[in-house]
Amino acid sequence: MTEKEAILARHSVRNYLDKAIEADKVRLIEEKIGELNAEGDLHFQFKADAGNTFNRLLNRAMGLASAPSVIACVGKDTEDLDERVGYYGEKLVLYLQQLGLNTCWVGTFNRKNIGADVAPDERLVISIAVGYGENQGKERKSKTPDQVTAGRNDRPEWFNEGVKMALLAPTAVNQQKFTICLNDDESVSITDNGGVLSRVDLGIVKYHFEIGAERKL
Ligand SMILES: Cc1cc2nc3c(=O)[nH]c(=O)nc-3n(C[C@H](O)[C@H](O)[C@H](O)COP(=O)(O)O)c2cc1C
Repeated sequence: MTEKEAILARHSVRNYLDKAIEADKVRLIEEKIGELNAEGDLHFQFKADAGNTFNRLLNRAMGLASAPSVIACVGKDTEDLDERVGYYGEKLVLYLQQLGLNTCWVGTFNRKNIGADVAPDERLVISIAVGYGENQGKERKSKTPDQVTAGRNDRPEWFNEGVKMALLAPTAVNQQKFTICLNDDESVSITDNGGVLSRVDLGIVKYHFEIGAERKL
C-alpha cells in the first residue's frame, strides 16, 4: 500500500476490537517512531496499553469508545511544536494504516492517565488512538477545492492532486480551516485560518499536500 492509497483508505476509527497489536508490528512501530523523533526533534511515545487514556465522558459523547493502544505526541516546546506534531504524526498515522491498523487523532483525552514522559522543556500536545478497528470508519463531508484554494487560476495537475489529498486530511472537528495558495512563481503556501488545534491540522494538511503533489513545500 502506497502512502496515497493509505490516504484514500484512512478514516477516523472510534471503536476498536479488544485485540492487542502483534509483537512484530509493535517493533516496526517503535522503529518508525524512533526515525520520526529524530527527523522532527520529537519525543513521541507508543503505549501498547492505553489504559484509561480514553475513559473520559467527553470521549464517549464523541463516539470514541476506547482504543487498545495510544501514541503520546510529545516534543520540545518550541513555537512550531504543534505543526511538527501534525506533520510527523500524520506520517506515522499513514504508516499505521499501511500496517493494517486504524487510528484516530484525539485532542480530548486524559492527560494524566496516558502516562507520558514529558521533560520540563517539552509539552504533550495530543494523542493518537491506535488498534484494530471494529470497522474501517466512513467517509465524511468535505469542503470543495474552491473553498480551500487561492492564487493563480491556471492550476497545474500536481497542484490539484495536492489539494485533493489535503482535503482528505483529518482535521479537528472536521473544520478544514486552511487555505492553499498557488503563488505567481508556482510556489505553494498553506496557511491555517484559526480554530481549535489548527496548527496541528496545518502540519497534517501540509504532509497530505506533499504526497499528492509529489513535491516538498
Ligand atoms: C488535531 C485533531 C484533533 C482531533 N480530536 C478528536 C477528538 O478529541 N475526538 C474525536 O473523536 N476525534 C478527534 N479528531 C478526529 C476528527 O474529528 C476527524 O479527523 C475529522 O472529523 C475528519 O474525519 P476523518 O479523520 O475520518 O477524515 C481529531 C482530529 C485532529 C486532526
